[in-house]
Amino acid sequence: MSFFRHNPSLSVNGVNDEAGLPKRKLDLVFNSNGSRKLSDEDLFKLEPILRKYGYNESLYQKARVISIVNHKGGVGKTTTTACLGETLVRKGFKVLLIDFDPQGNLSQILGVENPEVQVADCLFTNLPLPTVAILENLWLAPSDISLAEIEVDLLSKVGGDVRLRHKIMPILEDYDYILIDCPPSLSKLTVSALNASNATLITMLPESSSLKGLNSLLNRISEVKEHTNRDLVLDGIVFTMVRKNSVHDGFKEAIRSSMSVDFRVFDTEIRHLVDFQKSQALQATLGSLNASSEAYRCYKDFCDEYIAYLQIVKP
Ligand SMILES: Nc1ncnc2c1ncn2[C@@H]1O[C@H](COP(=O)(O)OP(=O)(O)O)[C@@H](O)[C@H]1O
Ligand SMILES: [Mg+2]
Repeated sequence: MSFFRHNPSLSVNGVNDEAGLPKRKLDLVFNSNGSRKLSDEDLFKLEPILRKYGYNESLYQKARVISIVNHKGGVGKTTTTACLGETLVRKGFKVLLIDFDPQGNLSQILGVENPEVQVADCLFTNLPLPTVAILENLWLAPSDISLAEIEVDLLSKVGGDVRLRHKIMPILEDYDYILIDCPPSLSKLTVSALNASNATLITMLPESSSLKGLNSLLNRISEVKEHTNRDLVLDGIVFTMVRKNSVHDGFKEAIRSSMSVDFRVFDTEIRHLVDFQKSQALQATLGSLNASSEAYRCYKDFCDEYIAYLQIVKP
């Protein structure tokens, strides 16, 4: 509705008909105060027409959807998703975390095991994304290994890799941020997450092994932007598990001086601290365990820097 408010010359019924929806369907949904919703099929037809008229989620909807990505495992993606989510919530934002890794680590560390309904159950059905409350204003859409079983459907079914986007579209106005924890690969799951996002954030260890495959990751992000989601931007890289030694120092320096100016290598670094492992073993969020710990402060500082950066770059 916000899109039509910004474009008063566009006719709701005209767009409705151009998308081939039943007569006055869009108008009925808009005037139903949320009691009627568009089906996945309607959204599928509507999206290209709206885009033709300049629709862009990041301009007209509320949530910024950020995929936390890296082709490697063990680089702090899941930890960053959970901790950035918590620090955003403690700054007053409403946040949904989506576990999009079949390993289900994000769900586990937040204490959601064997979820009754999970992301995999909804991608090819009419079910909405399942959400479990974690803290006030923090929700999780959980996953486990079942997500691996539907990966083949993402490849074979029509619009497979935009199904997640279509599940997120109707809830964009319910959140300020939606963070997607991606699997450690450049698989269809990661591409689906990128298709559903406005932005990406790369987590990286400051070690030479991190460079291996980095170009493939950057290329994949560019390909998605070029072919299926032109709104996608790379917000930047955050260093995780940083230790005070000359190898880490040298690598950080090299990355900072060699990276493109199009995105940020964030100044805040997430230090290697045992408190992260402790809180995850206890299935408690860092802030609820000890909001004055150094571990929590790392993400709080990173969150502040990220938000300040978005004020500059967000359209
Ligand atoms: N800053 C950190 N300091 C110490 N351990 C960390 C830190 N960040 C993550 N870990 C631990 O490292 C492991 C991998 O982190 P995780 O966030 O799951 O990475 P990924 O999602 O990229 O595989 C986990 O056991 C986690 O507890
Ligand atoms: Mg992970």
